[in-house]
Amino acid sequence: MAACAGPRAPRPPFLLLLLLLLLLGGCEASLPPEPPPPPPPPPSPEPQPLPESALQKPTVLLAIIARNAAHTLPHFLGCIERLHYPKSRIALWVATDHNVDNTTAILREWLKNVQNLYHDVEWRPMEDPQSYPEEIGPKHWPSSRFTHVMKLRQAALRAAREKWSDYILFIDADNLLTNPQTLNLMIAENKTLVAPMLESRSLYSNFWCGITPQGYYKRTLDYPLIREWKRTGCFAVPMIHSTFLIDLRKEASTKLMFYPPHQDYTWSFDDIMVFAFSSRQAGIQMFICNHEHYGFLPMPLKSHQTLQEETENFVHTLIEAMIDRPPIEPSQYVSVPLKNPDKMGFDEIFMINLKRRKDRRDRMLRTLYEQEIAVKIVEAVDGKALNTSQLKALSIDMLPGYRDPYSSRPLTRGEIGCFLSHYYIWKEVVNRELEKTLVIEDDVRFEHQFKRKLMKLMDDIEQAQLDWELM
Ligand SMILES: *[C@@H]1O[C@H](CO)[C@@H](O)[C@H](O)[C@H]1NC(C)=O
Ligand SMILES: *[C@@H]1O[C@H](CO)[C@@H](O)[C@H](O)[C@H]1NC(C)=O
Ligand SMILES: *[C@@H]1O[C@H](CO)[C@@H](O)[C@H](O)[C@H]1NC(C)=O
Repeated sequence: MAACAGPRAPRPPFLLLLLLLLLLGGCEASLPPEPPPPPPPPPSPEPQPLPESALQKPTVLLAIIARNAAHTLPHFLGCIERLHYPKSRIALWVATDHNVDNTTAILREWLKNVQNLYHDVEWRPMEDPQSYPEEIGPKHWPSSRFTHVMKLRQAALRAAREKWSDYILFIDADNLLTNPQTLNLMIAENKTLVAPMLESRSLYSNFWCGITPQGYYKRTLDYPLIREWKRTGCFAVPMIHSTFLIDLRKEASTKLMFYPPHQDYTWSFDDIMVFAFSSRQAGIQMFICNHEHYGFLPMPLKSHQTLQEETENFVHTLIEAMIDRPPIEPSQYVSVPLKNPDKMGFDEIFMINLKRRKDRRDRMLRTLYEQEIAVKIVEAVDGKALNTSQLKALSIDMLPGYRDPYSSRPLTRGEIGCFLSHYYIWKEVVNRELEKTLVIEDDVRFEHQFKRKLMKLMDDIEQAQLDWELM
């Protein structure tokens, strides 16, 4: 406290002086002369009008039609949530039916948790039946299924028109919009019908460049140029599907229809072909844009394929998306079931990783987890940190005159470190008496269905009773 008290002001004498002055009082003459009056204030300027505020974002209805999508929904919904667009300007229209998996419960949980963030939610679940009578499996499209999906799309379009939404965005429940600006960028194109080009592990994408007189896909020279970003821009094309935006403020959009098919329609009964025909009849050009990378979509499956194969297909899409980008996080508004990684029948799976390459370690761990593969991380020997005396101590000598067959140079420190990393694993294999082990480095890019294919290979080897040591 003492530190805060300054020297005491000489208050009593000052107060006394003031009192004396007051007592003497009453002598106006003794005051100094009045100062001249202050100059009149300048005429007040016209009050500046406040600047106009910016416009609100246009309103968008997001139409999600999901079937047997339990394996895609957490990541799909995560991408939707991360779109840089005010959720208060987005209405959700969500339909699901004919499911054998947990799709309905996941969507219900998500909608319950996000409904207050979005402008409005319309929810159309249907628990039964679980399949269409004519279908041979969940990936088969009998015409009853096409009809149903067309009717749903038409209902979403009608809802958007009734709400006077400015836009409607259709997006398939396994399309991953990893670029959070996608919606803004598509709106900025100012087209009636526009799609962001999505990538897959093949040339497959969500557009066609050519169409046959019967309305089927036609190969063109332009397609691979656009798909592989050799030409970039927004291109007029005869077909966009899966993810696309319709500007409902444009007059011609009022003529667009998903169902019933146009009276002159004679092409095959398929929802995307029916819609492409409708846009042609309405005089509306479809556009595909590839200015940027917007996201990913899995390859379509064949009629006879299973949901298990579809899940593996989607997992591969997820891990490919991680190759040069951060991993796609699942939605924070749904509970994501834990995966059960295993060792694929090996006694141990070793993953070699340099401690300073955390980026690679993180990507590999995510990639392996998504494929349900359990590994033991082995810290790699850092070749760059090895000096000559350490190499001597380990009695490592280069074969005299050794030259790398490709580059005709001697071994690098990195290569020696890599060799030592493997060598220490071999020692562990011997010490622990492991029979079958798998060793992977941390820069692997996995083949589609890697796990299934490797386990099949190990089975075949067992069957053939092959006597192997190193493969
Ligand atoms: C289905 O999804 C709900 C909501 O995410 C979850 O609580 C439930 O555990 C899931 N059920 C199964 C069998 O995965
Ligand atoms: C968008 O296109 C419409 C015609 O469809 C045109 O009238 C309008 O000026 C365009 N807007 C912008 C910002 O270019
Ligand atoms: C080599 O590295 C070891 C361990 O870091 C160190 O103790 C030793 O002095 C180094 N030798 C030379 C010749 O730099």
